[in-house]
Amino acid sequence: AFSSLAARAEAQHPIKNVTIFGAGFMGAGIAQVSAEAGYNVKLVDVSSAAAEKGVAGIKSNVARDARKKFAELAKTSAEQAAESERKHVEAIVGRIQATDKLESAVAEADLVIEAIVENIKVKQDLFRKLDAHAPKHAILASNTSSLRVTDIASATNRRDRVGGLHFFSPVPVMKLVEIVRTDDTSNDTHAALLDFGKSVKKVTVSCKDTPGFVVNRLLVPLMLEAIRMLERGDASKEDIDAAMKFGANHPMGPLELGDFVGLDVCHSIIEGWHQSYPDVQLFNPSPLLTKLVSEKKFGRKTGEGFYVYPPAAPKPAK
Ligand code: NAI
Repeated sequence: AFSSLAARAEAQHPIKNVTIFGAGFMGAGIAQVSAEAGYNVKLVDVSSAAAEKGVAGIKSNVARDARKKFAELAKTSAEQAAESERKHVEAIVGRIQATDKLESAVAEADLVIEAIVENIKVKQDLFRKLDAHAPKHAILASNTSSLRVTDIASATNRRDRVGGLHFFSPVPVMKLVEIVRTDDTSNDTHAALLDFGKSVKKVTVSCKDTPGFVVNRLLVPLMLEAIRMLERGDASKEDIDAAMKFGANHPMGPLELGDFVGLDVCHSIIEGWHQSYPDVQLFNPSPLLTKLVSEKKFGRKTGEGFYVYPPAAPKPAK
């Protein structure tokens, strides 16, 4: 058994170079935790300005963490602390290269993680190109929340080397990553994705390619059931949220959570699932959710959803 394990380890390319597509909120977070874990990272977006914006965001996050990390040292020597902070930030951000060139970004990739727009056509188009330009051994992973990884993989000729790596927002803070295997994902690919998830210091769970994987398959219907209670007038929104916070110890009630995630996002997830699985009643659309979205009440980000959010006070200048 040992020799076959060793042979497998040798046959497999260890993951050193990670290329991430999409320098938005999720992609930048994934790039940050990958660089912190010591990987060489390429962060790709449609323009180099967008990719660089992603890196700038990472830099300020890492710098903030570094200030906390060296706060003790700063009490005795501000100069030494500043120097340690600078080195720490440089070491991490120095491992990340921003680019808008697909071919060179994937030429030496061992793992590619896609975190671009949640649109099946756009993702398939990208995976077709990744399949054409990434090395044969490279694993292609998607961070999709609501699409089928199987459908994304179908654009490639390496379905055994495609899987889901579903991170949670914000990536540097949230501990979980779901490792999604399709019917075609090989054992080696699955094992490599699990190892990668652990190496970026996440708790990993494995699951099949079913709608919402584990977390969203439970959370989205919970939120929809809460909206249906509200629609029927079974309880007020405040009471529904208070019930789940104080009766089930959830950190946020389901309606608050919807506002936090974005009602537009929730609505589009549920629309997609309802179309693909019309018989699953838990995925039925909700008139109230549809109405709020048509009124552009998306939750926190627009200032109103189920609740009204006063505009954030301007940050004090530093
Ligand atoms: P975002 O809108 O912040 O970032 C997406 C980025 O991808 C943008 O910078 C865009 O310019 C770039 N992009 C679009 N097409 C591209 C292409 N062909 N090549 C390179 N870059 C391209 O979106 P966000 O929130 O980061 O989500 C990204 C993915 O992560 C989606 O699939 C989403 O479902 C998934 N996800 C999102 C979560 C969230 O809470 N926001 C949680 C877990 C997964």
